[in-house]
Amino acid sequence: MSRLIVRKSEGLFGETAIQGSKNAALPIIAAALLVEGQTVIRNCPDISDVRDMMRIITGLGCMCELHDNILMIDSGNVTGNTITDKAASKIRSSVILAGALLGRCGEVSIAYPGGCNIGERKLDIHLEMFRKLGYYVDEGEDCISMRGKINTDVNIRLPFKSVGATENGIISSVISDDRLVIIDNAAREPEIVNLCRALNDMGACIHGAGTDRITIRGVKELRSSKVLVDSDRIVAGTYIAAAAAAGGNITIKNVKRDFDSAILNKFREFGVRFRFYQNEIAVISHVKDSRKADITISTAVYPGFPTDMQSIIMAVMTKRADTGVIVENIFENRLKNVEMLNRMGAQITLVDERTAYVSGVEVLRGTTVRALDLRSGAALVVAGLMAEGYTMIEDAEYIERGYEHIDTNMRNLSAKVEYDVAGTTEH
Ligand code: EPU
Repeated sequence: MSRLIVRKSEGLFGETAIQGSKNAALPIIAAALLVEGQTVIRNCPDISDVRDMMRIITGLGCMCELHDNILMIDSGNVTGNTITDKAASKIRSSVILAGALLGRCGEVSIAYPGGCNIGERKLDIHLEMFRKLGYYVDEGEDCISMRGKINTDVNIRLPFKSVGATENGIISSVISDDRLVIIDNAAREPEIVNLCRALNDMGACIHGAGTDRITIRGVKELRSSKVLVDSDRIVAGTYIAAAAAAGGNITIKNVKRDFDSAILNKFREFGVRFRFYQNEIAVISHVKDSRKADITISTAVYPGFPTDMQSIIMAVMTKRADTGVIVENIFENRLKNVEMLNRMGAQITLVDERTAYVSGVEVLRGTTVRALDLRSGAALVVAGLMAEGYTMIEDAEYIERGYEHIDTNMRNLSAKVEYDVAGTTEH
């Protein structure tokens, strides 16, 4: 078990460069399976979800190497088309390999991913979409088997803007005999735009990414290429949250000029100000002017407020908001961190599975808490920056699934965050 110690930090200063996006890198890695050759993925985050995905595709016959954030994948020799139980439970997003294996091999068998800490994560939208694309889908007892190829032009309308289903739909339609696939009500997240740009760099013919109608004209094959992962808007949002919590002036580098405005606008409500430069944002946060008025968060698909920022902003609200309401509309189990924050002295009431009321408090106190999933773990780091004494975060491996070196990056911003390497610190 890895444990992070976070001490109260009075003001963050300095700069940090934002890593590549996990949720863009993972589908791009899956897409690389379509190439009978090499794909070089630049700005790939070195996080445990990426390492797990590399292990899974190595098991399918690919060769992968990740050094200095450059991931080289050679998919010249894909020999497997089965996603085992172990792989599916390790990273839920391994489901996006289904579309890649269908596109590459015309056949896939995938274990049921089951529920996870943040929700049930059903596959019904994915499977219905694969059926409409013309694939034969057999929902067996232990695994789902699919096979076939796209033989006609198809227009699909997703019942919900699922990120994963949109990605699977795109990836599985890229290679065909000139067939036209139109996906309506597609997810519009920047990570989808990044995936489509990478696929087009590989030779695919995709239009409309970033809108809710994506069209894919099938091509015969993809070519070896170099593609780029954009920076991670949720990681950037986490460092902004850290500054909103602890105060200070920080610069986040390697961010896109059109950074997610739903995130920025919410932090503006706390009084945080931003200055924009070419690829940098200066974050100015004066926390001394008392708690900010009511904050309401209601998570939604892009361009709404992202569910992945919800627990992180909840942590900021515990001390920096007067009152607040949080409604989680995307995942049904993503308010569980309330228990951990309340252990630290926060006053959050769960009204139901999806709604929480926050009453801002004067003082949070450091204690032992546990990361329940990736984002709740990051939220505890943010809360720890405001808490008296120190906060011990157990099960910090969850944070490593999505954050590169959160300890050193936070220290570069003069926050006091370190791993409990010796395992001797106790509350
Ligand atoms: N859903 C269904 N049926 C389906 C697919 C989805 O009911 O067939 C439901 C899910 O259970 C969930 C909701 O729809 O309640 C949203 O699911 P979606 O498919 O949009 O999400 P995802 O592809 O599973 C990705 C990210 C998540 C992020 C969500 C929403 C990756 C690898 N994961 O998940 O990221 O929260 O989109 O933006 O891209 C994270 O980074 O911490 C994380 C969980």
